[in-house]
Amino acid sequence: MKHDVDAFRRASAQAAEWIARYLENPARFRVNPDIRPGELVDGLPASGPETGEELSRIFDDFERVILPAVAHWNHPRFFNYFACTGSVPGVIAEMLTASMNTNGLNWIASPAVSELEEVALAWLRQWMGLADDYFGQIFDTASVSTMHAVMAAREWADPEARLDGITKKLTVYSSDQAHSSIDKAVIAAGIGLRNLRKIESDAQFRMKPELLKAAIDADLAAGFTPCCMIVTLGTTSTTSVDPLEPCLEIAQEHNIWVHIDAAYAGAAAILPEFQWMLRGNERAHSLVVNPHKWLFTPMDCSAFYTRHPQILRRTFTITPEYLRTTTDPREVSLMDYGVALGRRFRGLKLWYVLRYYGLARLQELLRGHIAMAQELAARVVADERFELAAPAPFSAVCFRLRAGEEKTRALVAALNRTGEFFVSQTILKGRYAARVSIGNQMTAREDVKALWEETVRITETL
Ligand SMILES: Cc1ncc(COP(=O)(O)O)c(C=O)c1O
Repeated sequence: MKHDVDAFRRASAQAAEWIARYLENPARFRVNPDIRPGELVDGLPASGPETGEELSRIFDDFERVILPAVAHWNHPRFFNYFACTGSVPGVIAEMLTASMNTNGLNWIASPAVSELEEVALAWLRQWMGLADDYFGQIFDTASVSTMHAVMAAREWADPEARLDGITKKLTVYSSDQAHSSIDKAVIAAGIGLRNLRKIESDAQFRMKPELLKAAIDADLAAGFTPCCMIVTLGTTSTTSVDPLEPCLEIAQEHNIWVHIDAAYAGAAAILPEFQWMLRGNERAHSLVVNPHKWLFTPMDCSAFYTRHPQILRRTFTITPEYLRTTTDPREVSLMDYGVALGRRFRGLKLWYVLRYYGLARLQELLRGHIAMAQELAARVVADERFELAAPAPFSAVCFRLRAGEEKTRALVAALNRTGEFFVSQTILKGRYAARVSIGNQMTAREDVKALWEETVRITETL
């Protein structure tokens, strides 16, 4: 059956116009939806249509039923989680990707998929100042990238694990501020949460190297095998930066795999003024940075780098006859370096994005976000009713009302009820804080100023 390309032309013109108007002004929508759980499900038929429907009817329902349930991450006043951007080049590349539906499971299945990942990730690696021997591949999320790091670390410390399951009492280390994806990776790798040591962080939410060292020494004395250390550059709650070099020194002493979780703040390494945080990266083993967080690439795109691809290969490679390819040394089949076989053409959107903006424009955008966050932090500091809950080194700001936790909670809830702003919250050393993250391309100083004015207005009513 042929594709109905005439229908495609009509429907894609309508969709393209909708996208253009959307990207022009996403703020015509509430940033967060005002719906009850189950409302979308209840608004749609319980079973699929017997006969196919017109694209125009489907589009009508997209606008009528689906859109009201969407949280608009592309809204300039989206300040929740890590704010991000689905950009014009990213949208175009996603359209092209879907139309070809190519699957780069191994090199021959679609050479462009593995080779463009290689090119785009090499560009990003250079911009971030990473060592030349980092081998890159793209996964969907940082959670999956980190899971691969932990599984490689397991292989590194316990090479029999692939055949026998874990044969040693392995332990993993991160700070108490590390992302929950580390816990999940430890579960997935079969190491077990009881063997994940969450090292206390200092007053600025950075891992304390002396406590890290003490924990490792204690584990060694008790017969454990420390296998992996996760150093976070840009933690989720406060964007604090663990001290990489002291951690590396401790790891080196015991041959421990060091994984750098730079899912969010790794993007800032394209700014010379932030490259200090990656000093020593040439001695680490792996790193994750998410272009879908702060590099204007649409979900999903997580760049995973390792200096030891042969360990990943040893962990994962299995080649049945139907997946056998050539033996050309330049041929890279990414199925050999991870769990997944099928592979989306994610390199295309990253390549589009890096080319479209170029390094200078990306730097300008990131510096703009950081400046807006600093301005917000200064407003917090200048108003005696508020206090900063943590240092704000990048583009996220945590603050609270001095009048107490209940009032800060009420403030966050009231801001989010407006539908104009969407902020988050966190708990820092047992104390609640509001959290504002700036990362959307369209966010302007007026948006952050409006957020602050609304914050003050609500506070006066509490
Ligand atoms: C530091 C850090 N690591 C990992 C993740 C997980 O990212 P993903 O949603 O891509 O799995 C996050 C998410 O915010 C994060 O902040």
